[in-house]
Amino acid sequence: MKSKVTLTTLYKMKEKREKIVALTAYDYPFAKMVDESGVHMILVGDSLGMVVQGESSTLPVTMDEMIYHTQLVARGASNAMVIGDMPFMSYQANIDTAVVNAGRFLKEAGATAVKLEGGASVSKLIAAISRASIPVQAHIGLTPQSVHQMGGFKVQRDEDRLLADALEVEKAGAFSVVLEGIPAKISAKITDTLKIPTIGIGAGPDCDGQILVLHDMLGLNDRHIPKFVKKYANLIDQAKDGIKTYADEVQSGKFPADEHCY
Ligand code: KIV
Repeated sequence: MKSKVTLTTLYKMKEKREKIVALTAYDYPFAKMVDESGVHMILVGDSLGMVVQGESSTLPVTMDEMIYHTQLVARGASNAMVIGDMPFMSYQANIDTAVVNAGRFLKEAGATAVKLEGGASVSKLIAAISRASIPVQAHIGLTPQSVHQMGGFKVQRDEDRLLADALEVEKAGAFSVVLEGIPAKISAKITDTLKIPTIGIGAGPDCDGQILVLHDMLGLNDRHIPKFVKKYANLIDQAKDGIKTYADEVQSGKFPADEHCY
């Protein structure tokens, strides 16, 4: 049996230049599939607002929804590290609220760590949450909770600011940092500079690991798909084929057959 992925596992992987594989998941069956496929890190992303709840941004997602989905994922993940994503306004207002909300992911939902968005501007929050023995993953670059401030989901190119943010979150105690929507050259430089592992999404090949939104890479999202996504399956088409065949068979009387009856 494989052993549970810990912070030490991730630091060793960075040291040995072994790539860290991360994906999002939002419920038990998908978390189990992701875990059993050998993925090291499962993020219960607030992207669930867009790919599960059908919203146009992540902003409406609540703490209670994140706790519920993290519980489902934690039940399906035997080996992968489960990280709970702190939703918009669950940490921005003040340090005390941030620490209490971060604690809920470990206490009520079975996560090992939390993720929050921002660089230097949230370093005090990262330090306070880490001091409470809650591992924190930072997230810099294109931070979807700041969609309105950024004027849309836009690639971030200010190298000096990105490097400064990365160094600040590391200094504050983050165990890892997600680099989203950043030119590959800048991500490579950040990855080289930091001691903590970088996990890229739309950030080029040189990060210590990669993450994608599960519904995007499995073809379960038929809305806008960013350029950085590679589709590894087309589950919408497969599911529709199955559903259509079922509908035809119900209407033609082929289902249920004798073997499905008592
Ligand atoms: O919410 C999310 O899924 C994320 C990843 C895209 C990193 O933040």
